[in-house]
Amino acid sequence: MYKEKLSFNKNKKFVILQVSDAQDLQIVRRTLLKMLDKAYQAVKPDLVVLTGDNILGNHLNDAIFGTRQVVFDKKDTYNRMKKALTYILKPLDARKIPFAFIYGNHDDMNVFSKKEQAEIYKSYNYCVEFNETQPQLECDTYNIPIFSSDGSSIAYNLWMLDSAGNDENGENGFAYVSKETLDWYVQKSEELKRQNEGKPVDSLMFQHIPMPETLRLLKECDAGEPNSVKKDGKYYTLNPELASGILSEYPHVCQTSFGQFERIKEQGDVRAVVFGHDHTNCFEGTLDSINIIQTPCASFRCYGNDLRGVRVFELDENDTKHYNTYTLTYFDLCGRGPVSRLRHILDADERVKDKAVLLSATGIVLCGAASFYIAKKFKKH
Ligand SMILES: [Fe+2]
Repeated sequence: MYKEKLSFNKNKKFVILQVSDAQDLQIVRRTLLKMLDKAYQAVKPDLVVLTGDNILGNHLNDAIFGTRQVVFDKKDTYNRMKKALTYILKPLDARKIPFAFIYGNHDDMNVFSKKEQAEIYKSYNYCVEFNETQPQLECDTYNIPIFSSDGSSIAYNLWMLDSAGNDENGENGFAYVSKETLDWYVQKSEELKRQNEGKPVDSLMFQHIPMPETLRLLKECDAGEPNSVKKDGKYYTLNPELASGILSEYPHVCQTSFGQFERIKEQGDVRAVVFGHDHTNCFEGTLDSINIIQTPCASFRCYGNDLRGVRVFELDENDTKHYNTYTLTYFDLCGRGPVSRLRHILDADERVKDKAVLLSATGIVLCGAASFYIAKKFKKH
């Protein structure tokens, strides 16, 4: 585990790379690894945050093709989970990049508890310390202080909140941020404030599943309006007065709220709440001075679109009220050359038709070439 303090560098900068929904299996799509490697190289982050659905936990036991279950032994499932996580975590250790994690619904749809899974994360040298001491909270609910460049005080803070798991009726769902989590947040936020001469410590808050208030960024619109989505027979788009970006699916928000948004407003420390989970949305909005940020997925083994990529946050110790954020898509990172496009066709789930056309065309060309060769040989004889 990584136990050193995280701090702003001598230029008073701190860069966070968010990787969300990297969900893959024990045989990982190589294009994901290629894209992440390019991102680490290009961004040189001080911290990587994995914001849930880090593996496709509910499909670990599937056959190589399809979703037929072929593994029934718990030990075999564990080995598959460990291998799937290795692909995501080992490159971070190799590059000596500290990383932090929270879970998503896919991590949690698993025979292994969050704590059991956390043991695997913990075995990596650059895994930032998470919650192992407060049993009333999930292990992926914790905060990460970022110290000033001279190391003397906490200059910034990151909230990592669990939103994965079952819904309040015990059914597998998209869950919520628990009341206990919010009570802890308020208490910890107050503690940080006391240490900061009574001023709230500016923070980013990461959680997998969007807060219900995210829906307030939308407005009803006419059918077929660009950048609009349909829900229950009505059409919605981002309200340009509140948000900008791409809306490709109706946000799948937490089904229950214990007043998270109100409590954040009261504390006055959170500059932005950042989500994953909705793979094809990428936007930034503002509600009551709090930014709401949606990051698309990184995985290729899932529904997605050309937004697939990572998000960067650039923090400045001299101006902690603001930050700079932007996304880098697969094509930004890997280019739009023929090899990059080919990889995308072969690995991205939504390119299945293109892949079929490509493979059929390749098959026809190969058959044609073989027939030509055989015919030529036959003629000779
Ligand atoms: Fe999710």
